[in-house]
Amino acid sequence: MATLTHHDVLYAAQRLRDAVVRTPLLTSSAIDHLVHRRVFLKAETHQLTGSFKFRGAYNALALGRTEREAGVVGASAGNHGQALALAARMLDTSATVLLPTDVPTAKHEAIRALGARIATYDRFSDHRDAIVHQIAHRHKLTVVPSANDPKVIAGAGTVALEMVQDLPDLAAILVPVGGGGLAAGTALIASAHNPRLRVFGVEPVGADDTHRSLRAGRITSITPPATIADSLRHTEPAKIAFAINQRFLADVITVSETDIADAMALLWQHCHLVAEPSGAVALAGLIRAARRLPEGRIGVIISGGNVDWDLYRKALDVSLERPRRATRQPAVRRSPAQAASRPASSALVGLSGSGRTSG
Ligand SMILES: Cc1ncc(COP(=O)(O)O)c(C=O)c1O
Repeated sequence: MATLTHHDVLYAAQRLRDAVVRTPLLTSSAIDHLVHRRVFLKAETHQLTGSFKFRGAYNALALGRTEREAGVVGASAGNHGQALALAARMLDTSATVLLPTDVPTAKHEAIRALGARIATYDRFSDHRDAIVHQIAHRHKLTVVPSANDPKVIAGAGTVALEMVQDLPDLAAILVPVGGGGLAAGTALIASAHNPRLRVFGVEPVGADDTHRSLRAGRITSITPPATIADSLRHTEPAKIAFAINQRFLADVITVSETDIADAMALLWQHCHLVAEPSGAVALAGLIRAARRLPEGRIGVIISGGNVDWDLYRKALDVSLERPRRATRQPAVRRSPAQAASRPASSALVGLSGSGRTSG
């Protein structure tokens, strides 16, 4: 694939038409009230394997004959692995997934249940990409990265394509950023649909590699991040995605761990939606930065829902036990100084490790 464009996303959509779920757009008057906007939540929690990742994995395998013939291997924080495992099963090939040893249990078990081979690495001492390439070389497998791959990015872009087909007049789309593949696919579609439609990436403040890289004008590595958003713990952006994001993203918003827990709680309370932390990050960004966003209708990608019960319960406890946010009255506008001084919850910080991982 030469330079990636929105046409690749349109072709991916044709390929995926009968394979993926066209996920619903949910609304909540309480969330609208909180941000003084009409908000539409794209529930990729309802996608096959519980995250948008299935779109990219299926597109890569459906498009790539070598991928299918040889079998595939991919490093993953869990969701890309589940997506590869199911896509491989549907397309009659095999998948091997390299996971960090501290992957959430639900993700590990789902990958095993889908029949993929699993290898693990220690995020503190091993070099993940070197291991993936060793496995690929030894077993003659094709590597399918979680974000640094044009076919994966094109598949991810079909989330935004469905959004603009259903809501042609969106003013902005908010998207979580790990390696940056989902943001890049979203940006390709948004810019082709309407150059005034702005795409904002959202990252946990402790995993702000894309935020920093965009400001520096080049890929910048960070020390291995700690955040409950386990799918977003990248140390640097994926190269192919970054080139697109550099061109098209309006900005990257950063959010705290308690912002993420609050967004998970809001989704549970007002939408009956179980989102994993990474899946709730874009909503956290909307709430954190509503004042900076354009007026008009806002689309938010709720990118996944694969979460261990322990972490989910603790995140909701942390959020619900703090003084309630006013969802039925006009939102209280806090000054930037007040916002910055909000204490990070030690309960949440204790749930995240630190180290290098992705996807
Ligand atoms: C639920 C979820 N949201 C967001 C992301 C980030 O996607 P990307 O790496 O394409 O930026 C991931 C990546 O695995 C994910 O699993």
